[in-house]
Amino acid sequence: MSKIVVGNWKMNGSCTLLRDFKDILQYKNFILALPYTLIHLAKTLNTGALIAAQDCSVFCQSGAYTGEISAVMLKDIGAEYVIIGHSERRRYFAECGDTIAQKIENAINAGLQVIYCVNEDYNQQINNEALQFLENIIVAYEPVSAIGTGNVSDADSITQICDAICELGAKRVMYGGSVNKVNIKEIIQVGKLYGVLVGGASLKIDEIADIIKASI
Ligand code: PGA
Repeated sequence: MSKIVVGNWKMNGSCTLLRDFKDILQYKNFILALPYTLIHLAKTLNTGALIAAQDCSVFCQSGAYTGEISAVMLKDIGAEYVIIGHSERRRYFAECGDTIAQKIENAINAGLQVIYCVNEDYNQQINNEALQFLENIIVAYEPVSAIGTGNVSDADSITQICDAICELGAKRVMYGGSVNKVNIKEIIQVGKLYGVLVGGASLKIDEIADIIKASI
């Protein structure tokens, strides 16, 4: 069965790079997680692309919160998904617990699909932040040791953790961390996996095209 590929550009990219991605955006199993500034352009390229934001505000709708972007605003601009709880948000912005739970609730209420990221502490994170939402969100397991390091997890350990997260109540589990066009062939063998979350490799057209094709 075809797997979902989520490309996460993080704080990278430009209007020019996004335009170069026009053909890639047409793959039905691909979702691109963009910086806020590029979402509108992605929607106007008319590719039918599925777009994710990389975060949303803990505040609900609108108000005096300078610099914030709410889940409602993301829905309004045409985003379909939002990533919440990425390890980089946890590390650099000290996000955890109630903050993440509130963001998930805001996103669900706004009608966005949530890609909720956990790392090696997945058990504690899920229990503190997402247990009540678990059936309705996508959980992305991304070990910190694998993000941006080249140390991809092997299929056996991905299988094991995917099973453990499903036992907690998740229906859709993805893997992320150093996925590339070579190791995707092994990762994709993990039958239960819903898809992969790809950082660095998603910025290179040829690389992400190979990952998407291997996942169809
Ligand atoms: P990476 O990043 O593929 O560059 O390891 C994955 C992620 O952080 O989502």
